[in-house]
Amino acid sequence: MAVCRARSLTLAGIDALPVEVEVDVSAGLPGFSIVGLPDTAVQEARERVKVAISNSGYKFPTKKVIVNLAPAHLRKEGSAFDLPIALAVLAASGAVPVESLGEAGLVGELSLDGGLRGIRGALSMAEGARREGMPRLVLPESNANEAAAIGDVGVYGVRTLREAVDFLGGRTSVEPASVGENGRVEEEFQDSDFADVAGQGFAKRALEVAAAGGHNVLMSGPPGSGKTMLARRMPGILPPLTTQESIEVTKVHSAAGEGRGTLIRTRPFRAPHHTISTSGLAGGGSNPRPGEVSLAHHGVLFLDEFPEFSRTTLEVLRQPLEDGHVTISRVAATLSYPARVTLVCSMNPCPCGYAGDRRRACRCSAGQIERYQSRISGPLLDRLDLFVDVPRLTREELRETGAAEPSQAIRERVAAAREIQTERQGMPNSTLAGRRLREVCAIGGDAEALLSRAIDRMGLSGRGHDRVLRVARTVADISGEKDIQVEHLAEALNYRRSSLLER
Ligand SMILES: Nc1ncnc2c1ncn2[C@@H]1O[C@H](COP(=O)(O)OP(=O)(O)OP(=O)(O)O)[C@@H](O)[C@H]1O
Ligand SMILES: [Mg+2]
Repeated sequence: MAVCRARSLTLAGIDALPVEVEVDVSAGLPGFSIVGLPDTAVQEARERVKVAISNSGYKFPTKKVIVNLAPAHLRKEGSAFDLPIALAVLAASGAVPVESLGEAGLVGELSLDGGLRGIRGALSMAEGARREGMPRLVLPESNANEAAAIGDVGVYGVRTLREAVDFLGGRTSVEPASVGENGRVEEEFQDSDFADVAGQGFAKRALEVAAAGGHNVLMSGPPGSGKTMLARRMPGILPPLTTQESIEVTKVHSAAGEGRGTLIRTRPFRAPHHTISTSGLAGGGSNPRPGEVSLAHHGVLFLDEFPEFSRTTLEVLRQPLEDGHVTISRVAATLSYPARVTLVCSMNPCPCGYAGDRRRACRCSAGQIERYQSRISGPLLDRLDLFVDVPRLTREELRETGAAEPSQAIRERVAAAREIQTERQGMPNSTLAGRRLREVCAIGGDAEALLSRAIDRMGLSGRGHDRVLRVARTVADISGEKDIQVEHLAEALNYRRSSLLER
């Protein structure tokens, strides 16, 4: 019997690379060896494939079976090669016709009874299959709707090894999968509306600006002033994802094993606890997965109780906040995951929580406050755009009912402002840089004078200067103005008045 080949794919970051599965069955001492996988994974795959084949009613060849996963240099992760290995073994031993494997891409993990388990990264696999010219992709049924979001590749979901054999052999037909739909934004966020938050107009406006342009926010205020409450209402005002963004978000979530089995159409909102580890936030691990900062890609990363996060953990945010992706160094290679997030943080101004409060005295010494605030490094502060004081409301303010604007009205303004940005420059204002930034954020004489004065008075860094311009651009876009006016710039500068910046 000649060598038999099956085509498969493996995840590298969030992209899928082609892998060829070669199987040779020859006379000789019966045995089953796999080369091209890390040691531990080989052992597991061997047992699964062997048992699954016999439990599916086929005979595992009592010959010498050698499986090679090529290219050898590519580091292959996960259990998705079970299906192509099993099929190639069956083809090489003559149990199924060789030609039936054809050019199809095959991925799936086998369970011992011959059933197929879902895999991570189905959407990326479909994208890889299209790029590599595989006419169709056969994978576990639970992954099919998600993978179908990539057109031009026939996606076929099967439930068992036997179903895969029958389908590839042309004995049964399987309907090509189509992309599923998930819930609409309005339904998802009904329970948490901005209308529930009394007062806090300044903070609400800042969050609107952040949502519209993708800018980073830090809310500071005493306990119980509504910071967590405000941040938790962000998902309800975020602009819709573009199709391209939807695909990227789904790829990341699927690669992390958090796919929803369909295309994700709402912006992520991630709120990791402050005890999260560095790799939990940045991603990594022996079988690498994206971390929270990547799971928040194109959405919001909310860090509540900001100073409680370990300083080293927070430092890993510096690169993604600047470049929009996070790099993970591993023994064999480096990996990169996308991580373009809108960062929303909340903190108390001091350990007791009441520094700057109108009615309650702060019990902290200047040194304590200084130490507390210095847990957030200067470089990280320099990457934030909007600094918002969230004061405690008076009794009257708290009791005041009605009148507060519902999330839907805010969401409509945000969506319109984002649409202007997408049409003008194909990206949110927060990612403008270089010449593009200077073109799009050009300001006239009066605004120029205001900015010059502010640079001197506030000691703006170069980065801070660019951040003010981007925020001013977003404020102008919310008003539907073509040019940035003095009032837009003034509002942007208002968001930089913070005692944290004067350290
Ligand atoms: N502006 C507000 N409007 C309506 N309710 C409010 C407001 N501010 C606070 N509350 C009420 O107080 C509760 C606590 O608010 P929240 O958890 O948002 O405070 P916080 O600012 O995050 O405090 P901490 O600094 O202790 O985390 C809310 O669940 C809500 O019931
Ligand atoms: Mg809170």
